[in-house]
Amino acid sequence: MEKILVLDFGGQYNQLIARRVREQSIYAEIKPYNKITVDQIVSEGYRGVIFTGGPNSVFDPLSPHYDPAILDAGVPLLGICYGCQLIAHMAGGVVSSADNSSEYGKIELDIRDHALFESIPGRSVCWMSHHDYISEAPDGFAVIASTDKCPVAAMCDDSRRIYGVQFHPEVTHTEYGRQILHNFLYNVCGCSGDWRMDSFIDDTVAAIRAQVGDKGVVLGLSGGVDSSVAAALISKAVGKQLTCVFVDQGLMRKDEGDFVEQTFTKLFDMNFVRINCQDAFLDKLKGIVDPEEKRTIIGTEFYRVFWDKIRESYGDGFFAQGTIYPDRIESGKGDASKIKTHHNQVGVPEDIHFEDVIEPLKDLFKDEVRAVGEKLGLPHDLVWRQPFPGPGLGVRVIGEVTAERVRILQEADAILRDEMDKNGYAPQMSQFFAVLPGVKTVGVMGDERTYCELVAIRAVTTDDFMTADWAKIPYDILGRVSNRIINEVDRVNRVVYDITSKPPGTVEWE
Ligand code: XMP
Repeated sequence: MEKILVLDFGGQYNQLIARRVREQSIYAEIKPYNKITVDQIVSEGYRGVIFTGGPNSVFDPLSPHYDPAILDAGVPLLGICYGCQLIAHMAGGVVSSADNSSEYGKIELDIRDHALFESIPGRSVCWMSHHDYISEAPDGFAVIASTDKCPVAAMCDDSRRIYGVQFHPEVTHTEYGRQILHNFLYNVCGCSGDWRMDSFIDDTVAAIRAQVGDKGVVLGLSGGVDSSVAAALISKAVGKQLTCVFVDQGLMRKDEGDFVEQTFTKLFDMNFVRINCQDAFLDKLKGIVDPEEKRTIIGTEFYRVFWDKIRESYGDGFFAQGTIYPDRIESGKGDASKIKTHHNQVGVPEDIHFEDVIEPLKDLFKDEVRAVGEKLGLPHDLVWRQPFPGPGLGVRVIGEVTAERVRILQEADAILRDEMDKNGYAPQMSQFFAVLPGVKTVGVMGDERTYCELVAIRAVTTDDFMTADWAKIPYDILGRVSNRIINEVDRVNRVVYDITSKPPGTVEWE
């Protein structure tokens, strides 16, 4: 399989670069700059290397540098932003810094005729984000693009197949960014594009079959996208040798537990074990109001129930989980030695011994996981499911979690979802849900005074959940949601809409 290395120098768009490469049907891996040598790059057969951007200046003695031998290793190289400056610096060019040299945002780019710019007009818009700039290209390099403030917006050494662009071709604001990457990958690196989801499914199914033989596989199914797609893939490979254990703690959205059960028992060949344990969870949560304490209790109880079941019935064979690529990527920033731990990667208790852990999605980005899920026939709602916190409604019922309060929230949330789906508004939202703040307010219904629960609606749009905007849902939709919740959900007499962005708010209320 053809592969491209995205060498991470700590930039914020590194995953985006890899995804853009994969969108062009070429497999891309991200590695921190200090975790792979030039010899490894050559021996592992990468078709090309992309140096990412990064927050540093090449003048800073602590900034990340790379072995200059890469320039003569015979592997095509594309530097982006900091990566471009680093190439210039390593190859003997001049990187400068001047107060008026910064460029941020959309900038007009003038290009010369070159294979890297095939099918791109002479003037177009690119996205810049830099302070330092290349004032003199290295010997042997030709300048192939410039902007008003940036004399070397792109440079190349065709004889060594080394290229650099000061702008960011990976972001959509660069009008022809996709074409530039395409030109690098296909014209310079000579890739043919052999990374496709169909072949991924066939190859992975074959590999799982070969690895598992006639043994069993057990997988913890949460009903989220990743574990669901992993389950569907493994089921395709080994059918009934797969057992999915679904711990339903009673803190999912209305009817969601049944939906998960029906999906996997009706559409897929596997053993499906559902453990209904709402009572046990609520018992543990009795009197607990602190959000972090609730999270800890729900997490601990979840794994206790799950591993007890495994010990009882499935403590041999293979263990599978829905780890995806972003869960495993090491960062090129600061201390790159630590691998990020993530809730998708579960530690197996020491007393349980599996032959091996199977992570069939470990090389995929989320959008690729979804594409696999669609191809495997998972329902659209499951494949495009919004993020849902592990502790579930436990952190959306503010304060103490009781069966009655979970019921009220589930009913209100189901109405919200129904209205957003009916209006076709749901796909525009990154996440939306109801919250039960635990506030009672006075109201009047008929001639009666009421003193009932308040429900809050939260809806956000975001690219990465690190920051988020509150969603500008049309008033008429909000009005219908409010009316229906008050009329249809017993014990609720008021609905409010949360208009807090993140920061300063968080997406969840707890
Ligand atoms: P916050 O509230 O931190 O949420 O702005 C950002 C994203 O993370 C989700 N979230 C969680 N997911 N366990 C999870 O698995 C949690 O404890 C948790 N808390 C928040 C939240 O739904 C949003 O998508």
